[in-house]
Amino acid sequence: MRELIDRAAIELINSRYAIVLTGAGMSTESGIPDFRGPKGIWTTNKEAEAKAYERYELFLRSPQAYWEEMLGGEGTHGAFYREVRKAEPNTGHYALAELEKLGIVKCVITQNIDGLHRKAGTSNVIEYHGSVHKLRCPSCGSRCGFEVLAPEKLPPYCQCGGVMKYDVVHFKEPIPFDVIEQAEREALECDLMLICGTSAVVYPFASLPRAAKPSYASSTTVIEINAEPTQLTHEGISDYLIQGKTGEILPQIADSIKMKVQQNR
Ligand code: APR
Repeated sequence: MRELIDRAAIELINSRYAIVLTGAGMSTESGIPDFRGPKGIWTTNKEAEAKAYERYELFLRSPQAYWEEMLGGEGTHGAFYREVRKAEPNTGHYALAELEKLGIVKCVITQNIDGLHRKAGTSNVIEYHGSVHKLRCPSCGSRCGFEVLAPEKLPPYCQCGGVMKYDVVHFKEPIPFDVIEQAEREALECDLMLICGTSAVVYPFASLPRAAKPSYASSTTVIEINAEPTQLTHEGISDYLIQGKTGEILPQIADSIKMKVQQNR
């Protein structure tokens, strides 16, 4: 493990444009369960997963019913979103924010809707699946803070006349074009991609590592930090996997980088 941590530190220092892709595994140490890990939400509750696949159609069919569920009490997905909004960043989020401040990490593209990268201080964040802290109008694409929602006036309407939803991308819902375009640009620009805490099975997000490294001959370095091997590991998309917790490994990589930078001064 130590030699992989030092190898990742050196490769990050030598990179021209390093970006980070993250998934739910980044936030489990903040108390937010992941989806497909051994205790994941979908692993342990197939009914919840089936309901998640119907959520976008519910919004299209009945925005009122969608919002009643999204603001529902105990046991509803709305209750889960309320817990997510209360979560705090962990040592992994803070380590990535530090690497951005050192000028090494240029962008974080996250699947997580919890806003914890920004809360930890990372400024260039692409929220690929949106955010529980925002509302979005699918008609015109405008976004606003969740705090403007008036529960007594559901569903919320946009100034353009469209009905607003959570700025969370549900299954079967298109990823907003601005997000897709920014993320693809970052994936094609990077020469190092650090992939943290994702099973990398949900598309189109999972296409980003393959866009960054279209072939074994590609010069892009792909490093995975994950509790378990993933498709990317098995397919050889990632050059190597540092297996373990992001909240433990990322701070060690950041410390190794700071020590090496200090030594070279
Ligand atoms: N450190 C490292 N890896 C971890 C940790 C941790 N502390 N905790 C969990 N993991 C790993 C799990 O073993 C799993 O391989 O993180 C991965 C999380 O995978 P998923 O649960 O599938 O989450 P993610 O890849 O983000 O899911 C993608 O699916 O349901 C949708 O919209 C949802 O954005 C989500 C998308």
